[in-house]
Amino acid sequence: MQLAHTAALVTGGASGLGAATAKALAAGGARVFALDLKSGIDQAPEVDGVTYVPTDVTDPEQVRAAVATAAGSGVPLRTVVNCAGIGPSARILGKKGVHDLGLYAKVIQVNLIGTFNVLALASEAIAETEADENGQRGVIVNTASIAAYDGQIGQAAYSSSKGGVVGLTLPAARDLAQYGIRVCTIAPGIVETPMLATVSDEFRAGLAAGVPFPRRLALPEEYAKLALAIVDHDYLNGETIRMDGALRMAPR
Ligand SMILES: NC(=O)c1ccc[n+]([C@@H]2O[C@H](COP(=O)([O-])OP(=O)(O)OC[C@H]3O[C@@H](n4cnc5c(N)ncnc54)[C@H](O)[C@@H]3O)[C@@H](O)[C@H]2O)c1
Repeated sequence: MQLAHTAALVTGGASGLGAATAKALAAGGARVFALDLKSGIDQAPEVDGVTYVPTDVTDPEQVRAAVATAAGSGVPLRTVVNCAGIGPSARILGKKGVHDLGLYAKVIQVNLIGTFNVLALASEAIAETEADENGQRGVIVNTASIAAYDGQIGQAAYSSSKGGVVGLTLPAARDLAQYGIRVCTIAPGIVETPMLATVSDEFRAGLAAGVPFPRRLALPEEYAKLALAIVDHDYLNGETIRMDGALRMAPR
């Protein structure tokens, strides 16, 4: 699917994978709307072709308004990339007692329900656009994690949320096929994003050493490249693609 003369919406677009994807989509000719919390946007870089829209992905009214902004931009909304997410860790039973249920619910709320909320409301707007010559109207790319499959100690909530995103992918593709909308998910390994900026060089080297090849962490630009490849490739649909250098996470 072509990006030129279309609009794209990227959640979590102020940082990390979302910011790299927003930049790449804009460079590819799309008019990009980066949805993120106001706190995220305050620290976001200025990028040509990217408009920031303060939005909490868990709030239906805020997402509805942000989708309307993108859909009303004068070019059809065709691309959605869901990158907003949080990754706190806690053991089910640890030194501080049992896992906080509120924390578990919050991770599901942002990572899974937020993804579904944007996917559903954006697909409504995409379905109203004119189809292209192939009958296609749009593409939605979600972000899971290899923690959906190889969740580590302390990742019960995070892995549950990302497993949910993997499970959502095929039924979403099937539900939206009648509107000419494709749905795929990327499951990244460990990517160099602000999340990792706080860890020591030694810890980072340890993480990189566990990756078979390339023996390094992934770059946000490599995620963006895959997201754009999915948008470009009309026959990719209903699938979750690992992007992890063959990494399989150990229990800890
Ligand atoms: N970095 C990695 O190694 C890695 C690996 C696998 C999966 N992921 C996933 O990729 C996605 C992006 O991660 P990242 O590393 O770029 O993180 P990041 O922290 O750099 O970016 C995440 C962005 O999401 C925003 N966000 C959080 N809650 C939000 C909400 N309720 N509404 C709107 N925006 C919200 C944050 O403000 C932030 O700008 C996440 O879903 C994460 O779980 C990351």
